[in-house]
Amino acid sequence: MPETIVILDFGSQYTQVIARRVRECNVYSIIIHFNTPATEIAAMKPAGIILSGGPSSVYAADAPLPDRNLFALGVPVLGVCYGVQLLAHFLGGKVEKGLKREYGKGTLTVKDASCALFGQLPKSLQVWNSHGDKLTKIPNGFKPVAGTENSEYAAIENREKRFFGLQFHPEVVHTPRGREIIANFVHGVCGCGKSWTMHNYVEQAVEQIRTQVGQEKVILGLSGGVDSSVAAALLHKAIGDQLTCIFVNNGVLRAREAEVVQQVFGKHFRIKLQYEDASKIFLSRLKGVTDPERKRKIIGKTFIEVFEQAIATSLRRDKSARGAAAAGRTKFLAQGTLYPDVIESVPIGGNPAALIKSHHNVGGLPKKMKLQLVEPLKCLFKDEVRLLGEELGVPKEIVWRQPFPGPGLAVRILGEVTPARCEILRNADAIVVEEMKASGWYYKIWQSFAVLLPVRSVGVMGDERTYEYTIAIRAVESQDGMTADWVKLPYDLLEKLASRIINEVKGVNRCVFDITSKPPGTIEWE
Ligand code: XMP
Repeated sequence: MPETIVILDFGSQYTQVIARRVRECNVYSIIIHFNTPATEIAAMKPAGIILSGGPSSVYAADAPLPDRNLFALGVPVLGVCYGVQLLAHFLGGKVEKGLKREYGKGTLTVKDASCALFGQLPKSLQVWNSHGDKLTKIPNGFKPVAGTENSEYAAIENREKRFFGLQFHPEVVHTPRGREIIANFVHGVCGCGKSWTMHNYVEQAVEQIRTQVGQEKVILGLSGGVDSSVAAALLHKAIGDQLTCIFVNNGVLRAREAEVVQQVFGKHFRIKLQYEDASKIFLSRLKGVTDPERKRKIIGKTFIEVFEQAIATSLRRDKSARGAAAAGRTKFLAQGTLYPDVIESVPIGGNPAALIKSHHNVGGLPKKMKLQLVEPLKCLFKDEVRLLGEELGVPKEIVWRQPFPGPGLAVRILGEVTPARCEILRNADAIVVEEMKASGWYYKIWQSFAVLLPVRSVGVMGDERTYEYTIAIRAVESQDGMTADWVKLPYDLLEKLASRIINEVKGVNRCVFDITSKPPGTIEWE
């Protein structure tokens, strides 16, 4: 078990951000429910405990409260925002409704530079606040170490017990030196080293996979996305030919997608790859369908059907091979589940982190196959998965690729999805990807892609009048897909995109640029 910082979640939308910041310090962190018994916490042997923020007031009847025995474990504790109010509440301080809600940027003045949290930091720091209640009396044994315009107790410490409280949020980007404060806590106070790296994790994960799987065989649905690709590379390193990947062509993939996946995983990694070209079935079921949700349902359902059949085929092959000699049965289904999918977020006050999970995550697990799950990425955040991919030699083109929706181009072709329309969008999208990469923008932003609109407009090309489709270009910046801003791409780049699309893609005579942010728009057009 690596050195671990345990984070108690009191429902803040930033709890996962705290966990990521800790890991960026190369220290492992886990998020647990706020009311986890202290004995269980002690069993995790934490090097330190962080109490997250949260939208409640400690005095509310239904306030989420931790097991008070955690303060007797002899482990350093850092309370953030609501967390500092909990320290006061349990250890003899006082919390009151602030006269003014302190929200937004503030300036922190460090009064005691010998406090371990602020070592090597300037006396004056920009911080981000978001709280209503505030400390009016600090508990015995504590002293104030920093204040803001509105609060003389913005940071407090009990040096002897190694308890610290911060009224502001060190984890958010609006507290620019916050990472250093967190680093000071985990390294300086808790004494953690820097052993949590993806380089070290590979060995640990390989061991775990081998122990779980033994001699049995494993099937993985490979989509070509970051998660399943990295999972494939990791599993292959651990169990080699015991792994079979199934790649389903659903007919609404991007240009060259099927080729790239076969090239990278089949040829380069030499992974056993079962390619299922089901494009005809998908496209025939999508015929005449224009409603976006129906498209999604059809694709989801068809995918499960095709995937189940592909697994059955693989199992049959396996069985006949076994008849000949080989040991091992297919007993496992691998999935690229990530840590945010498994954290039980505390849904207090409509915490958006609790909602993200259900959004678009439609995992169709073939239950009747009686396969057990292997989820080798389930303790990792997305940024760690990318680093792990690099460590395993997965090409940059895949590791750093932008998100792509499961229903593929079907939700970017407005109206009916036909083979001809797929062809148009594929060609236009390939130009967008190519130019975004060439200009360096592709890897800087969340997503950029083309959308095919079912409207035709009049144009002239040479001496001829044209009457053809419109392509919309979408480019957005986002942290997690929940909100997004449209990207102000340079005019020169937009000009190049439009002129190449109109000149090179047959069937298109007009290009527009989408300048809608989310909300009120969504990222995809359907
Ligand atoms: P929206 O369009 O809801 O997209 O603003 C937010 C993020 O989710 C992706 N997305 C999907 N992903 N299945 C997926 O796997 C879907 O049906 C789906 N719809 C949207 C979208 O690309 C963006 O990153």
